[in-house]
Amino acid sequence: MALDVASVRKDFPILDRCINGRRLTFLDSAASSQRPRQVLDAMTEYYEMHHANVHRGAYTLATEATDAYENARATVARFINAPSDRSVVFAKNVTEALNLVAHAWGRTHLREGDAVLLSVMEHHANLVPWLMLAEERGIELRYLQLADDYTLDLSDLDRLVDGVKLVAVTAMSNVLGTLTPIRRLADAAHDAGALCLIDAAQYVPHLPTDVQALGCDFFGFTGHKMMGPTGIGVLWAGEEILESMPAFLGGGSMILDVRTDGWLPADIPERFEAGTPPIAEAVGLAAAIRYLDDLGMDALREHEVSLTGYALRTLTERLGDRITLFGPSEPSARGGVLSFELEGVHPHDVAQVLDQHGVAVRAGHHCAKPLMRVLGVNATARASLYAYNDTDDVDTLATALEAASDFFAI
Ligand SMILES: Cc1ncc(COP(=O)(O)O)c(C=O)c1O
Repeated sequence: MALDVASVRKDFPILDRCINGRRLTFLDSAASSQRPRQVLDAMTEYYEMHHANVHRGAYTLATEATDAYENARATVARFINAPSDRSVVFAKNVTEALNLVAHAWGRTHLREGDAVLLSVMEHHANLVPWLMLAEERGIELRYLQLADDYTLDLSDLDRLVDGVKLVAVTAMSNVLGTLTPIRRLADAAHDAGALCLIDAAQYVPHLPTDVQALGCDFFGFTGHKMMGPTGIGVLWAGEEILESMPAFLGGGSMILDVRTDGWLPADIPERFEAGTPPIAEAVGLAAAIRYLDDLGMDALREHEVSLTGYALRTLTERLGDRITLFGPSEPSARGGVLSFELEGVHPHDVAQVLDQHGVAVRAGHHCAKPLMRVLGVNATARASLYAYNDTDDVDTLATALEAASDFFAI
């Protein structure tokens, strides 16, 4: 069934807003999506009727809250086809999930001279934790480069992967939209005796996900980019790997026993969930997943491929050589993230003029400074698409960009 965008839009109260006298055209979902009323209602209902702290109360509310939290874990596990709920760890966001791996797995398994293979298009969240480890431990960081068509250059993969302990790569670039061949990278990592980590922050919200088919070992994503609330992210990892990892943060809930002279860690996943967890956020994330399930992830992906194709055509036709688009030209090889430069106009000026037209896009380095250097720019403007965007949004973007270009024309 094709996505009924008009009906999807009705579920998002914020899309009824007018900004600067114009209908809001929200094109910044790659930074953070909007959330439907179903998610807001689920969280309100949880707070109004069921809230108590989880895992440590014997009374009815505490049991209800614990059930809601653990059911959310089961919902996440099913959504990504995880083999067990135990392999799903809740974190604050994907940044924390990736830091968890660098801290708990990295500091246990990586020694001076060990190598980690990254790519030049990583978000800082999958870069800075490894740079920190490199400074602290003297590990070597290697980088997959970009090919001319903005895909990942795998021509040197065999040499680069040789001798590494971890391949850690994004599933989809938050700047270029490029989809990376996860299965191929995971297989290459395993053939080299390494593990494979995937930063799926831009992937899970937009494509059907099956962590078992993808074949990776660590897989992180973040709730607020997939119609869920802020404050919750997910790390999925193979059970045996998680079991072999020491705790990350210390405190309540993550222990089996504590004495004045020592402590024992809890089993997974609690070992990695110190302190009061994001309970209402887990409830909201589960509601977002139910909403995405109802839309159908295949239908969502189909809609986005088609809309991305329309956007690439429209912007090229209407702006001509005034616009430079960064990213693969083939819509099926990418997600709906459109980074661009408008000739002679700073990306921040672009974003400000677009705001006058009610169009919300992001401008900056998108937390991918090494990639900006590869592209030879300091910043780009970025429009990103989701289930609630349609061709009208793209047309409005093109009109606003023409206005920006005319306004700044010398
Ligand atoms: C590819 C990628 N990784 C990681 C992140 C970080 O997400 P969060 O801030 O939710 O941790 C982002 C957010 O923009 C992203 O696009």
